[in-house]
Amino acid sequence: MVDMSTTLAGTVLPNPVMTASGCAANGKELNRFFPVTDLGAFVTKTVMLDPRSGRPTPRMAETSSGMLNSIGLQGPGIDAFVEHDLAWLAERGARVLVSVAGNTAEEFGEVVQRLVASPAFSCVVGVEANISCPNVANRGLVFACDPVSSEQVVRIVRTRVPEGVPVVAKLTPDVTDIVAVAEAAVRAGADGLTMINTLLGIVIDTDLLRPQLAGVTGGLSGPAVRPVAVRAVWQVVAAMREGRLPTAPVIGVGGVRTGRDALELVAAGAAAVQVGTATFNDPSAPRRVLAELEAEVARHGVDRFADLVGIAHDRMVRP
Ligand code: SIN
Repeated sequence: MVDMSTTLAGTVLPNPVMTASGCAANGKELNRFFPVTDLGAFVTKTVMLDPRSGRPTPRMAETSSGMLNSIGLQGPGIDAFVEHDLAWLAERGARVLVSVAGNTAEEFGEVVQRLVASPAFSCVVGVEANISCPNVANRGLVFACDPVSSEQVVRIVRTRVPEGVPVVAKLTPDVTDIVAVAEAAVRAGADGLTMINTLLGIVIDTDLLRPQLAGVTGGLSGPAVRPVAVRAVWQVVAAMREGRLPTAPVIGVGGVRTGRDALELVAAGAAAVQVGTATFNDPSAPRRVLAELEAEVARHGVDRFADLVGIAHDRMVRP
């Protein structure tokens, strides 16, 4: 028997596998394939203050080793979300990480205030501040591109979320120094970090000779980005281990299709792993990745998942 439990800033989860925000809506569809309660946590589609239809279509484009999305934070708005989606998840007994976003730091705070006021908040095991969505017309709204903006958002979210409920900041790899942004987020009160959001990309339709996506740019996800995710997790965890920023748990996300893919992020330092794009062609992927990751832990001869978190840092061959 392998102990697959993991702890995120004091919150114990029975296992480390989660959905990635935006890849399984708000749980109802996924629950037809396996109970969402099987997951360590279900991560919701990012919710904003008001209902949004998102960017114009087409807003998905396949690439040879992943896909671009240009959804633009489509969603029902926080009030409808808590009434219909969060209530449904709470009734199922799911552990929920709610992904939130706003156009300003104050709007993040307003979204969180309404979330916390909901009776269904009891199922929330954490709030993921999505400060890194690339699908905004104004790049200045990608808060995670700038340490100061990241700090402002995280600070306000942390003050509105009750103590004991972790706030996790989701970061973008599209920066020169992700450690500086991670440090700003943690010093502002983030209890954990999710890395990474999608990378900004463009696909050109070579028949029509124009961008495939109506919004021109989109976020690249899928297997192509996994080494970037592993690198981001590695860099931030290495900086924590060297004492360059306070220690906080990291949730790894980016191109996980199998238990071995998940193990890469774990060995780089992720205490939990999210499965996203793989869910589109295999809706049971998060449940399968969990079973495969458990087999991987056993294959390495340890009986606790936690023993493998960050292990690659200790085994690094030093010149
Ligand atoms: C989107 O809705 O545009 C995707 C969200 C994200 O990548 O953060």
